[in-house]
Amino acid sequence: MAKMWAGRFQKETDAVVNDFNSSILFDSRMFREDIEGSLAHSTMLAKQGIISENDRALIHQGLKGILTDLERGRISLSPEKYEDIHMAVEQLLTERIGDAGKRLHTARSRNDQVALDMRLYTRKEIKNIRSLVLDFMRVLVGKAKGNLHTVMPGYTHLQRAQPITFAHHLMAYANMLRRDVLRLGNCLGLMEECPLGSGALAGTTYPIDRGETARLLHFAAPMDNSLDGVADRDYCIELCAALSILMLHLSRLSEEVVAWCSWEFKFIELDDAYSTGSSIMPQKKNPDVCELIRGKTGRVYGSLTALLTQMKGLPLAYNKDMQEDKEAVFDAVDTAKMCLQVFAPMFETMTVLPENMKKAAYRGFINATDCADYLTKKGVPFRDAYKATGTLVARCIELNTTLDALPIEEYKFISDEFGEDVYHAIDLNTCVAERRSIGGPAPEEVSRQIAKIERFIEDESQA
Ligand code: ARG
Repeated sequence: MAKMWAGRFQKETDAVVNDFNSSILFDSRMFREDIEGSLAHSTMLAKQGIISENDRALIHQGLKGILTDLERGRISLSPEKYEDIHMAVEQLLTERIGDAGKRLHTARSRNDQVALDMRLYTRKEIKNIRSLVLDFMRVLVGKAKGNLHTVMPGYTHLQRAQPITFAHHLMAYANMLRRDVLRLGNCLGLMEECPLGSGALAGTTYPIDRGETARLLHFAAPMDNSLDGVADRDYCIELCAALSILMLHLSRLSEEVVAWCSWEFKFIELDDAYSTGSSIMPQKKNPDVCELIRGKTGRVYGSLTALLTQMKGLPLAYNKDMQEDKEAVFDAVDTAKMCLQVFAPMFETMTVLPENMKKAAYRGFINATDCADYLTKKGVPFRDAYKATGTLVARCIELNTTLDALPIEEYKFISDEFGEDVYHAIDLNTCVAERRSIGGPAPEEVSRQIAKIERFIEDESQA
């Protein structure tokens, strides 16, 4: 197959080089964006009198036909025939409409074309991912609402630390995801400028109207420097960074779910539809989905690392290294979407086991801080109260009991300030209810957090 650039060459491209060089097998997923860009470009060319209105009409008709055929899978895009999606669309167009097709690439380069296509593609996918994150936030909020009073141990160092509620724990993740939504929004905010019209690197001598193409493609303005226009891949890196952090959050929650559905915890039970069995051990019900999400987080980090490394030594402006951005970004986008799509229903359908959470909460002296606070509120300095409670805990361990069941005489032996009301003060429901400080686990405080996140979800869903 003769290349578009055959005029300059005496030999055909080596077959291995041809496959090596080609990106059609992965960049064909941007065919819609490529055609959208060409429609806007040709509209502008005609408006500026660079091509005729007749040619513009032919180009538009041709491009729309190609779009339909590609959408219906009627065109096969093989690397033998096409180097990349940009050349494929132009070749197909010329085959279909003749000379007018050859005018489409006037005042344009594949360098600004690919920069545009990637922006249009990532812009679309960022919106898709953002709405999947919001969907997952809705699931978390729903579960939180049903578990405002579900007491569980909160952990530090994976050691039982202080009493919280399951709602409180879930809302921590809702808050992380809120930042993910904002981060994705920030990526979009930095992508408001259009690279089309940057040409190969140095703009063009044709009287193009970059403001017009920017407007037609829903950008706020053209990018201000043509070298930057074709050489910038910051937005790809930013997207992968935002997705890496999002995946980190999903991975941490996955890790907790894995622990929670072990027999050691049994805080939750996953629905059969979202669990897997073992080929040998008949009793097994495994949280493979969570483990895969944890594992796939590494893939997304891989994309980010790949992009940062690809870009770090590149001189201005376009270099072919940049073709490598596609698979990294596409894989990160696909992975994040898939993980969100499977995590949300898995989480929604799981059964929470409040009794087991409560049982765990009664072990581990997680009300010891509250016992010390009880004394402090009676005037004992906190450090002394802390020490007295430590002694009581040691006594409990000796007697194989809990602070709740320890006889009042034992308390009084340590400090005269202890009275019968200590049992109410260290009751786990009291411990949770009294933690009313902003951000704390008290049901009314978590309700406030929930209302705020619900407003956020509502606002962002409309954005
Ligand atoms: N397929 C190329 C890419 O993905 C398109 C740009 C090619 N430009 C060039 N001068 N070779 O980056």
